[in-house]
Amino acid sequence: MANIGVIGTGYVGLTTAVCFAELGHSVVGFDIDKAKINTLSSGKSTIHETGMSELISKNLANKNLSFGNDIKIIQECDFIFLCVPTPQDADGSADLSYVIKAARDLGQLLKKNSTLVTKSTVPVNAWEDVVAALNRNDVAVVSNPEFLREGSAIEDFFNPDRIVVGCVDDSKAKLVSDLYKQTDVETIITDNSSAELIKYASNSFLAIKLSYVNEIAALCEAVGANAKDVLSGMGKDSRIGSRFLEPGPGWGGSCFPKDVRALRVTAEDNAINLSLLTAALESNEKTHRRIVDKVEKELSNSLIGKIISVWGLTFKANTDDMRESPAIAVIERLIGRGASVVAFDPVIKNIENNKIKIAKTLEECCESADAILILTEWNEFVKVNPESIKNLVKNKIIIDARNFLDKDLWINSGFKFIGNGWQ
Ligand code: UGA
Repeated sequence: MANIGVIGTGYVGLTTAVCFAELGHSVVGFDIDKAKINTLSSGKSTIHETGMSELISKNLANKNLSFGNDIKIIQECDFIFLCVPTPQDADGSADLSYVIKAARDLGQLLKKNSTLVTKSTVPVNAWEDVVAALNRNDVAVVSNPEFLREGSAIEDFFNPDRIVVGCVDDSKAKLVSDLYKQTDVETIITDNSSAELIKYASNSFLAIKLSYVNEIAALCEAVGANAKDVLSGMGKDSRIGSRFLEPGPGWGGSCFPKDVRALRVTAEDNAINLSLLTAALESNEKTHRRIVDKVEKELSNSLIGKIISVWGLTFKANTDDMRESPAIAVIERLIGRGASVVAFDPVIKNIENNKIKIAKTLEECCESADAILILTEWNEFVKVNPESIKNLVKNKIIIDARNFLDKDLWINSGFKFIGNGWQ
C-alpha cells in the first residue's frame, strides 16, 4: 500500500483521493478551501457524484483517508497527485498558474525520491514547466491524465478504458500505473509530452465526433431520414463505435469546450492548423441555433412573448455542473429572440442569470407554456406522465433535443412531439 497525497479536492482530485483510498492506499487530500475540507472531513461530498459520500465516510472510518488544509500533510507521501484546475485564459489557452504555484510550493516540501504525478489537464510540454518549478532532481514528474466523466467518475476510475502514464523514466511510470491495481486494463507507458497530448487529443476528438453527429441529425431532419436509425446504423461499425453518438443541444461542460480551445492554441503556437477544432466549435454554436430555430418554427416563426418551459439546465444529466452548458446557451438565444423562459432542473434551484425563472416543480414550469423544450437528459423526465401536465400548458408541443423521451406516450396524450433529427 502506498502513501498518496492529492493536491486539490475538486471533482478530479476528490475522485482520485477517495478511489485510491478505496483501493487500500493511505490517502491525504489537501485543499486551500477550509470550508470544503470541513465538509469532506465530516463525510459529506462537495460534488454531485453518485456514491461519493458513502465512499468518503467509509474510508474516513477505515482511516485510509483524511483531508486537511495545511500543505504539510503531504510531507510523508511517496506519490503526490496534482489535481488543481487549469482554467481557460482570455486567449483560449490553459492557465497554468495554479499548477506552477503548487509545484513550486511542493519543491520545498516533498519527501526525498518521491513522485509528483500531474493529473490536471495541462497542455503538451507543460511537464517541463512543472519540473522547472519543482526544482528537485530526486523527484520524478509523471504525467497521468484522467478520463473521468462527471456523473460517473467513480465507475470510470475503477473501470477505465486505459491508463496513461508518461515519464522520462519508464520504471517511475510503471510504479504509478501499479497504484491503480488494474491488471486487466491496457496501460500505455509513454513519455510525458505524449501522455499530455493523449488527453487533449481524446477530448477534442470526442467533441468533433459530437459536432458531426449533430450535423448529421440536422441533415436527417432536412431529408426526412431518422437520425436514431442512421446513427445507430453507423455505430454498428466497430471502427466508429456505438458510444458518443447521441445528438443533443450541443456539447458542453467544464472540459470539452476548454480543451478544444486550448489544443487549438497549442497547434497555432506550433504553426499547425487544426481546422477541425474551429469547425467543431462553430458547428456546436450552429446546433444551439438550430434547436432554437426548431422551437421558433413550431410557434408560428416568432418567439416574441412566448413562454418556453425548459427541462434541464446542467450540461448533461447526473451532475450539478452548468459550466458551458448547452442548455444555458440555448436559453440565452431563446430569450434573445424575445421568449420568456421558465426552467426546471432536478438539482439546480438557483441561477445567477435573473432572466431565467426557475420553477420549483415541473408542474409550475409547465404552466401556460407555449412549448416544452427538453435540454438535459435527466431520468426524472422519462418518468413524467404527460397526462399530469397536459392541462397546464397552453400548447401541447414538446421538443426533445436529447431524443430520449417515449414519443408514442406523448403523442397518445395529444402532444405534438418533435425529436432531434427525425420527424
Ligand atoms: C469529458 C470526457 O468524456 C472525460 O473522458 C474526461 O475525463 C472529462 O471530459 C475531463 O476532461 O475531465 P465530461 O465533461 O464529464 O467528460 O462529459 P461527457 O460525458 O464527456 O459529455 C460532454 C458533453 O457531450 C455533454 O454536454 C454531453 O451531454 C454531450 N454528449 C455526450 C452528447 O451530446 N452526446 C453524447 O452521445 C455524449
